[in-house]
Amino acid sequence: MVAAVRVHKFGGPEVLTYEDIAVPPPAAGEIRVKQHAIGVNFVDTYFRSGLYTPPGGLPFVAGNEAAGEVVDVGPGVTEFRRGDRVAYVQGPGCYSQERNVPADRAVKLPDNISYEQAAAMMLKGMTVEYLVRRTFKVEKGMNVLMHAAAGGVGLILCQWASHLGANVIGTVGSKEKADLARANGCHHTILYRDADFVGRVKEITGGALCDVVYDGIGKATFPASLDCIRPLGMFVSFGSASGPIEAFNINLLQFKGSLFATRPTLNTYAAKRGDLLSIAGELFAIVGSGAVKIPINQRYALRDAAKAHRELESRATTGSSILLP
Ligand SMILES: NC(=O)c1ccc[n+]([C@@H]2O[C@H](COP(=O)([O-])OP(=O)(O)OC[C@H]3O[C@@H](n4cnc5c(N)ncnc54)[C@H](OP(=O)(O)O)[C@@H]3O)[C@@H](O)[C@H]2O)c1
Repeated sequence: MVAAVRVHKFGGPEVLTYEDIAVPPPAAGEIRVKQHAIGVNFVDTYFRSGLYTPPGGLPFVAGNEAAGEVVDVGPGVTEFRRGDRVAYVQGPGCYSQERNVPADRAVKLPDNISYEQAAAMMLKGMTVEYLVRRTFKVEKGMNVLMHAAAGGVGLILCQWASHLGANVIGTVGSKEKADLARANGCHHTILYRDADFVGRVKEITGGALCDVVYDGIGKATFPASLDCIRPLGMFVSFGSASGPIEAFNINLLQFKGSLFATRPTLNTYAAKRGDLLSIAGELFAIVGSGAVKIPINQRYALRDAAKAHRELESRATTGSSILLP
């Protein structure tokens, strides 16, 4: 038996139940991982609340990202062996001391990436890689707006876009978050709870507006985000921290300047093993070079997963949060 955090019914953080579960031997194509660190992500709250449906139904082990050591391999696995250091995005199922993972979803960790760093960045950092290099190629001199710039995805994206030479504008919920975002590559911050962020983006860009807006907030920033984008620019809606965007008339994109809009997920971008390895490789390279750092600003014991969710959802966290089994 191993300790895990399960959800038996959908609801608030209180439904996260710390208990012992049995983990069967790894099936064909699976590896068994002894987890050393587990990432906490907003998507974990979507599954917990029932906004997203867990593929195997209830009950399920929460969590979508972790790093650890291979302790067993199932039949047919040739790429991994016992003792390998690995990390992966595969959920739900990660809030557990040990679990089985499909081997084709795991990647080997380079020696210079720690378990904690990996658990804090596989989901968020690979997301940033595809957002700034694949969904829209951020280039030198571009204006980029990132909402929730001091969050987990936010701090990584600000550093990466700044490294690419972009002028990075970030919205944040407090002065402390503004300081943190600026220390992590964000050139201009906007306190969007107090100020009209569209007006501030116009001022900051001298009316040119942004080439791309990365919006993980959803309901609360839509459709205003569209007014921050230059004609023919790109709206990237990649999350719903404030609730999902409601149905809208596609003609809106015409009136806002022939905009492009997309709603991407890491699952699609990393669906093929070759793409997963390429995205992870780019992330390991940029973190290994020191150009992008992974701020881990909250650490919790696995049994305190409910506290981690409460703090994430109440906008009390910055950077990445991890659980320690
Ligand atoms: N599509 C993908 O592939 C993908 C992958 C990873 C993450 N995501 C999305 O990226 C976003 C960020 O994820 P994360 O894990 O890094 O979280 P996070 O940014 O660390 O936390 C969410 C932040 O959103 C802001 N926020 C604004 N309104 C909010 C509200 N009503 N409730 C809660 N927070 C609110 C808060 O920052 P302020 O106080 O500064 O406003 C909060 O700190 C989420 O929407 C997530 O679903 C998408």
